[in-house]
Amino acid sequence: MPQVIGHRGAAGTHPENTMASFQRAFEIGVDGIEFDVHRTADGHLVVIHDPNVDRTTDGSGLVMAMTLAEIQALDAGSWKDPAFAGQRVPTLRELVRATPPGVRLYLELKAGSVHYPGIEEEVVALLKAEGVLERTQISSFDHRALVRFKEICPELPLGMLTSCNLVDPVGMAKSIGCEAIHPAWPWVTPDYVAAAHAAGLKVNCWTADDPMAIAMMKAAGVDGIISNYPERVKDG
Ligand code: G3P
Ligand code: CA
Repeated sequence: MPQVIGHRGAAGTHPENTMASFQRAFEIGVDGIEFDVHRTADGHLVVIHDPNVDRTTDGSGLVMAMTLAEIQALDAGSWKDPAFAGQRVPTLRELVRATPPGVRLYLELKAGSVHYPGIEEEVVALLKAEGVLERTQISSFDHRALVRFKEICPELPLGMLTSCNLVDPVGMAKSIGCEAIHPAWPWVTPDYVAAAHAAGLKVNCWTADDPMAIAMMKAAGVDGIISNYPERVKDG
């Protein structure tokens, strides 16, 4: 059975990247949670997918241009269902502290220093201060950020996110020093997984939601399945 990783918590049924969504993932019994990190204007690391708050809250504006107080005044639950009114955008620290010890933290940094100068150092400092470095894995489409993480904290596990059918994903991931490749599931085959494993790399695919995709990924032998419906991965 691959690791069950709740995408933005349990985002199929709950408002993504909120504590309600993560608590649901914990109830399901996930092995890990995936979530997205940006930085506010006043330097707080927050858990939200988009660079702005427009889609997932009742406000508008860029995360990087808003203070934490402004962002946490917004309702991050009602857009999904009025039953979730009052959910807030969590800080990274809040989420880390609320995550049970046995659950792995798959932290996706949406952008590194290209948009948030010094953010890699800030993430490492927070993870160390909270004592969760060993159960965190950092992933990013910003491969330069991954290189920076490897420079400043070699022991921090890394996952190389990819969305297209790369010519040499294994070579790229090895060159960065990653523990895993995180490919979009449609590109993943048994041969893809075998090549990664032969090089000592894990494969955690995203975002497999429907039963067909989940079954295909299990048959391919992936190490982890990132899903908006982690209960389907667990029970399927
Ligand atoms: O980590 C896998 C997946 O979350 C990457 O894409 O857009 O859902 O953050 P996205
Ligand atoms: Ca993500």
